[in-house]
Amino acid sequence: MKANLTALVAVAPMEGVMDATTRDLITRQGGWDFCVTEFLRVTQGRQPARVFHRLCPELRQNAQTPTGVPVHLQLLGSDPQSLAENAQIAVSAGAKVVDLNFGCPAKIVNRHLGGASMLRYPDRLYDATFATAQALKALNAPVTAKMRLGYDDTELTLDNARALNAAGITQLVVHARTRAQGYKPPAHWEWVAKIAEVVDVPVFANGDIWTLADYQRCVAVSGVDHAMLGRSSMTNPWLAKQIKQHLAGEEVEQVDLNG
Ligand SMILES: Cc1cc2nc3c(=O)[nH]c(=O)nc-3n(C[C@H](O)[C@H](O)[C@H](O)COP(=O)(O)O)c2cc1C
Repeated sequence: MKANLTALVAVAPMEGVMDATTRDLITRQGGWDFCVTEFLRVTQGRQPARVFHRLCPELRQNAQTPTGVPVHLQLLGSDPQSLAENAQIAVSAGAKVVDLNFGCPAKIVNRHLGGASMLRYPDRLYDATFATAQALKALNAPVTAKMRLGYDDTELTLDNARALNAAGITQLVVHARTRAQGYKPPAHWEWVAKIAEVVDVPVFANGDIWTLADYQRCVAVSGVDHAMLGRSSMTNPWLAKQIKQHLAGEEVEQVDLNG
């Protein structure tokens, strides 16, 4: 096998779970390229810097975990001005990359047009993302996005991906399920392939990559070798290293997860 040293593996944002301590424990195991914080919901108005520091204490440490893995800060919202302003504050508070959440399925969030509910309106998705990307341009900070395949179905999947791409994101993570599909397996990695065809930024596959074998199947189906791992980063924090060892053509260290 030819060594692949360019594939990136990221720790997924997980509200209520993936805090700075957990990010530290996971990234210490090696193989991880970046993490994304739990989301900060912004509706109207500007949050003070301390809110960003509470969400992401790493902002005071060059936005990196103690072992030097970058941490991106995730915002959730729909109002272009509010997202843009708060993204600027986040960067002033130390964030290097701002990620936008277009996947959250929570009812309270969706009722207020945030998270996955934005996937019903590609034009609003564009406006919110464009405003944020423009606001951060002057600060030299990129905007990335994380999307599900859709709200109820996949009718607008490619329109949404195109909208995010046109709005100026530099990277896209795809949780390969609609909101309606929740967390029900399987993740539809074939859609990651379709999305990768219509955008010109790096695409990350996300959803149900629990093992190295899952990663290999996901690459085969999606054609994408960047991956973001959520729940498996907690059940097997060594998975990123195992993926990297596999890609480098090295022997993969086996870990007894029950030991
Ligand atoms: C408890 C929990 C909290 C989550 N919180 C967030 C979040 O704050 N932002 C986000 O974009 N996704 C969030 N997600 C979705 C995950 O980032 C990921 O897309 C999803 O778990 C599928 O990936 P996995 O199968 O590797 O876990 C959350 C998922 C879980 C299980």
